[in-house]
Amino acid sequence: MPLLKVADLHKRYGRHISVDGISFEIESGRCVALLGPNGAGKTTTLRMLAGLLPPTSGEISFAGNRPGADYRKALGYLPQSPAFYNWMSGQEYVVFAAKLSGMRSREAAERSAAALKRVGLSESARRRISGYSGGMKQRLGLAQALVHRPRLLLLDEPVSALDPIGRREVMELLREIREETTVIFSTHVLHDAEEICDDIILMNRGVIAEQGTLSYLRSQYSLPIIRLYTEKEDKAFRWLEGLVHKPFIVQSQITAGKAIFNVSDVELARREILQEAGKLDIPLLQFEAGSSTLEDLFMKVVGS
Ligand SMILES: Nc1ncnc2c1ncn2[C@@H]1O[C@H](COP(=O)(O)OP(=O)(O)OP(=O)(O)O)[C@@H](O)[C@H]1O
Ligand SMILES: [Mg+2]
Repeated sequence: MPLLKVADLHKRYGRHISVDGISFEIESGRCVALLGPNGAGKTTTLRMLAGLLPPTSGEISFAGNRPGADYRKALGYLPQSPAFYNWMSGQEYVVFAAKLSGMRSREAAERSAAALKRVGLSESARRRISGYSGGMKQRLGLAQALVHRPRLLLLDEPVSALDPIGRREVMELLREIREETTVIFSTHVLHDAEEICDDIILMNRGVIAEQGTLSYLRSQYSLPIIRLYTEKEDKAFRWLEGLVHKPFIVQSQITAGKAIFNVSDVELARREILQEAGKLDIPLLQFEAGSSTLEDLFMKVVGS
């Protein structure tokens, strides 16, 4: 039985459709990336899953319960831009969150200390949040989301606003946390998703463009491909445009001076393209024959 089952979820604001019928299931213990560009509908989706935003239609069921049953106690949620009470200390804030989830004072204090330790904030726990760095605030947000030991953790862009060091710290922490609980985190960076998750749900414009395990998507999109870069000259642009009519080219994406061709036969394509470029004296900068990657898939979906 999946931990979370989402069926045909929609969110509409007036005439604007933010989420346009998404369905997916999440198995317990998985780490799932909700990947997509700005405006894809990630935050809207996570807020609906967190019970903060009523869906326009569709169903969410948690742990086999009937759709619509309240499962908020089993959730931890870190919003995209968490707002803290800056006058509180980190410890006061996590204790406050623990009490909101229904814990008594003593349990709240114990669990908060454990959560703060978990995220490496024990030593700063008594300092005011106003003096925390961005990375520390994000780790505090994680402590708040974890303190009641949720079965499902929803994290909205947990690393996007951080500098490389803060990002690394939080990614390392997520790598540990994902061993203990089921995690869905959103990101617009494919690399983040590839680094720690098992499954990817790729969203664009309110719909799911692709979903599956990382290895399935990698194999599915590992197609023979040729990448070409030329000088930015009209002659080269015209030549690239003309190549799309070659019989061995299955699909193409061309922007000024850069072309990516899915090909049916890499060897044939390599020979013909290089010969022709030589004959016509095309100012080639780079030629690459290989396999397409998830990055190519992501760019195609995002660019469409
Ligand atoms: N309260 C709202 N009223 C009207 N439109 C909204 C509202 N909230 C979100 N939207 C629209 O819904 C779409 C999806 O927004 P959402 O915030 O879910 O995207 P996102 O994938 O989280 O983007 P980002 O990467 O920028 O955080 C956007 O076009 C946005 O403008
Ligand atoms: Mg968002």
